[in-house]
Amino acid sequence: MNPLTVLGIESSCDETAAAVLRLDENGPHVISDVVRGQAAQHAPYRGVVPEIAARAHVEVLDGTIAAAMADARLGFAELDGIAATAGPGLIGGVMVGLLAGKAIALAHDKPLIAVNHLEGHALSPRLAQGGATFPYLLLLVSGGHCQFIAVLDVGVYRRYGSTMDDALGEAFDKLAKLLNLGFPGGPLVESAAENGDSKRFALPRPLLGREGCDFSFAGLKTACARAVERLGVLTDQDKADLCASFQAAVLDIVEDRTRNAMRMFDSVWGAKGRLVAAGGVAANQAIRSRLEALGEDRGYDFIAPPLRWCTDNAAMIALAGAERLRLGFSDDLSFPARPRWPLDEEAARLRPSHQAGRKGAKA
Ligand code: KG4
Ligand code: ZN
Repeated sequence: MNPLTVLGIESSCDETAAAVLRLDENGPHVISDVVRGQAAQHAPYRGVVPEIAARAHVEVLDGTIAAAMADARLGFAELDGIAATAGPGLIGGVMVGLLAGKAIALAHDKPLIAVNHLEGHALSPRLAQGGATFPYLLLLVSGGHCQFIAVLDVGVYRRYGSTMDDALGEAFDKLAKLLNLGFPGGPLVESAAENGDSKRFALPRPLLGREGCDFSFAGLKTACARAVERLGVLTDQDKADLCASFQAAVLDIVEDRTRNAMRMFDSVWGAKGRLVAAGGVAANQAIRSRLEALGEDRGYDFIAPPLRWCTDNAAMIALAGAERLRLGFSDDLSFPARPRWPLDEEAARLRPSHQAGRKGAKA
């Protein structure tokens, strides 16, 4: 194949990011990768405020793209395409990045690839050396999404299950808010849990033992809120114990649901597969270790991207764009920003011939 060099732009939540990636016959190479977070701007509100996010993207996006191009020592004319996140996400931010991508594509007469942010996460394990080969079972766990997807090829995705209420990252963030730990909550809950007693609070494990691989975290969240109410004034030890008990419940839920998802994956693709975790929550070491142990138990290889490519970044958007461009896909400049955009619906639109999985097929 001809090498493809693509600029990726990401602005769907609270990270402004730009990256340049080259895709050739040896796989993807990240040439530059710039991420500018906005945590400090959102921290006073203990959550992402969409309008603040959109304004912050406007302020720093041009500089972020310029930095990624400078790090790559490339001019726009040397690119083969511009990939920008077109959804799902906070619409103001998505529009900022998508419009910038369209402007660069138009000014330099390059193809635009409007990338589904979830496809970026789904393909992110392929960014690392020796990354995942198709097909693989993906647990996508972020602030807005929580689902199992069979990733069969670029653009060929089957959703096996998803959350019935909160996303897992949202559950971490809400607990952090309840305990006044700060923002973003996931890493703070994880580090507080390290000093806590995971058996002190008997918390529910919703859907444990049930069929399928959907998730529900509402009951767990309510039980945490009740525990906080009962305690009244909380010591640091109380907080650590609640975080540890919450994380222990999460680990049991994730293991149980993943076992069922593996059974569903096995029934189509045969045993001995690849289990991949991606999205911000996949940065959690306790979750990574539990999935790795489960993988060993079930004969699955466990793969997770390096931490910097778990949370939002533009390298994964550039990769999704380059892979789509390689297959001959690009998008019209009229492509709209989409606040909601399920990954499997997109798959159906792009590659209808791949709808049926084949037992025993090789990557
Ligand atoms: O993928 P991401 O950066 O943005 C979305 O697309 O949502 O994920 C952010 C989410 C937040 O909810 C954050 O609290 C969570 O990932 N997160 C973690 C950890 N690091 C980030 N959750 C648990 N443990 C972590 N170490
Ligand atoms: Zn994300």
